[in-house]
Amino acid sequence: MGFIIAIDGPAAAGKGTLSRTIADTYGFQHLDTGLTYRATAKALLDLGLPLDDEAVAEKTALAIDLAGLDRSVLARHEIGEAASKIAVMPAVRRALVEAQRAFSRRDPGTVLDGRDIGTVVCPDAAVKLYVTASPEVRARRRYDEIIGNGGTADLAAIFEDVKTRDERDMGRADSPLKPAVDAHLLDTSEMSIEAAFQAAKTIIDAALNRN
Ligand code: DC
Repeated sequence: MGFIIAIDGPAAAGKGTLSRTIADTYGFQHLDTGLTYRATAKALLDLGLPLDDEAVAEKTALAIDLAGLDRSVLARHEIGEAASKIAVMPAVRRALVEAQRAFSRRDPGTVLDGRDIGTVVCPDAAVKLYVTASPEVRARRRYDEIIGNGGTADLAAIFEDVKTRDERDMGRADSPLKPAVDAHLLDTSEMSIEAAFQAAKTIIDAALNRN
């Protein structure tokens, strides 16, 4: 088994960019586990299947192919909303966590990001980071991203979405979003991407030296 880096945190905290940069720097394989929930949700939406039938959602989750995950196809807001809803179902989580754990064991090492990596998926990860930022900063980043891509957006509506998503992700009974007791907390509210990466790198290098 390789070296596992677990990165958790709320929506739009900057986990994605940070995880990809870390994976590229160390030559590790990266899995954005949010995409597994999004792909399951999209498959249900595409087939017109209900989002509240756990057996149907579980069957769909079991059929997800990690090799085919593509954020550009799964980024839509309604897919994120649907993903957050089916992510409360224990049978869906069991199916996807199984696939995520298998991925985490790949050589030479892996970076997994999500909500429950350090607490549930990879509790023995060599490094655990909990990346967060205030809801105001996260809403502003998402807004700037949409505007930067030439779209239109309403900052107040995005702020409400961020808070609703936080409540659902942190409030669910099965695997709620929370820092693992041994996670390093990284609050990026006042940090650039580069500064967050440097802070993470210091922690990872120390762990690699111990290994
Ligand atoms: O990070 P994201 O927005 O792509 O995640 C979409 C939803 O998937 C999120 O609202 C909660 C869920 N999720 C989860 O429950 N556990 C994970 N490890 C990753 C995502």
